[in-house]
Amino acid sequence: MTIERNENGGYGLTTITNAVGFSLTLSDFGAGVVEMRWDGLPLTIAPKDRETYFHSDGYFGKTVGRIAGRIKDSRLSFANKTYPLSPNEGPNCLHGGPHGLSMKMWRFSIDYRDGSPVPTYSLDEGDGEGGFPGPVSFRVRYHVSEKEARLETHLEAFSPVATPLNLTTHAYFNLGGSPNVLSHEFWVNAHEVETYDAGLIPQGFVACPDCLDFSSPHRVGERIGDPILSEGRTKGYDHCFRLAAHPFAAPVARLSNGALTMELCTDAPCLQVYSDNYPRLGLPLTNGRNEEKNAGLALEPVAVPNDFSAMATIPGRPLFRRIAYRFLKGKAK
Ligand code: BGC
Repeated sequence: MTIERNENGGYGLTTITNAVGFSLTLSDFGAGVVEMRWDGLPLTIAPKDRETYFHSDGYFGKTVGRIAGRIKDSRLSFANKTYPLSPNEGPNCLHGGPHGLSMKMWRFSIDYRDGSPVPTYSLDEGDGEGGFPGPVSFRVRYHVSEKEARLETHLEAFSPVATPLNLTTHAYFNLGGSPNVLSHEFWVNAHEVETYDAGLIPQGFVACPDCLDFSSPHRVGERIGDPILSEGRTKGYDHCFRLAAHPFAAPVARLSNGALTMELCTDAPCLQVYSDNYPRLGLPLTNGRNEEKNAGLALEPVAVPNDFSAMATIPGRPLFRRIAYRFLKGKAK
């Protein structure tokens, strides 16, 4: 395993490459994935320009929190109190608000596990930051396998008080660098999906209508023109699926272009699937393309939306979220 560090004006980037040619580039700003490649082939998309990557409202590859998703009117109801948050999408608070975890500079260090280097990011937030209750110490660890094209991300948080957290990573996948992901085949182990109001605020789960039923694999583009999606507020896939099961050992979702397949494992109960419906048209991307509609598929393991009590930390006990991507050549069964 090799690690290369580029400090670049205080905005550190780190690239780690393993023995099978899988590489991961990470950013201190946002504790995020800038890109993943295997044998030089791009697996993800993000803005190529660094400043754009840092400040983009697309959250490309970054760590998202304190609470991923939208909070209506930026008012968080938790433990019989209402906490006013900072809005960043009309009246609502999206992905932690304007100064969420994606918009922070994190401390970088390298830990070691079984002799392998583990890029690690740390951030301490005080009580009331962004309006959220309680001080929290966050840590994100990126474990790259020695002999497989596999990344396991650990999102960790610790607070002396109970506070709601919904941490995720926001990587957009596009296997092999196609202009868009419409011909990628997608499967998710889910039969229920969220419904939304006009502000994309979650309204509760229903059985998946056909165009949202990926419990057997379908191409992303096959039903994306369905009026439920194209005429609805989401303008494509932008839906939270409740996972039928989420034992960390078994994949909960799979994305494939035939030549490359990605398997996603997580211990989170839900998966937000977003098909890049509001692209920054023409923006140069890390995969050599310019952004177009549906250029990537963001797969974000999350907690049950709006269930803030279920998101609460247990005082004095660390909270863990695990997310693993495993890439394979060819089409997995
Ligand atoms: C949300 C989208 C949002 C995107 C980028 C996704 O997690 O579901 O609605 O546009 O993030 O901000």
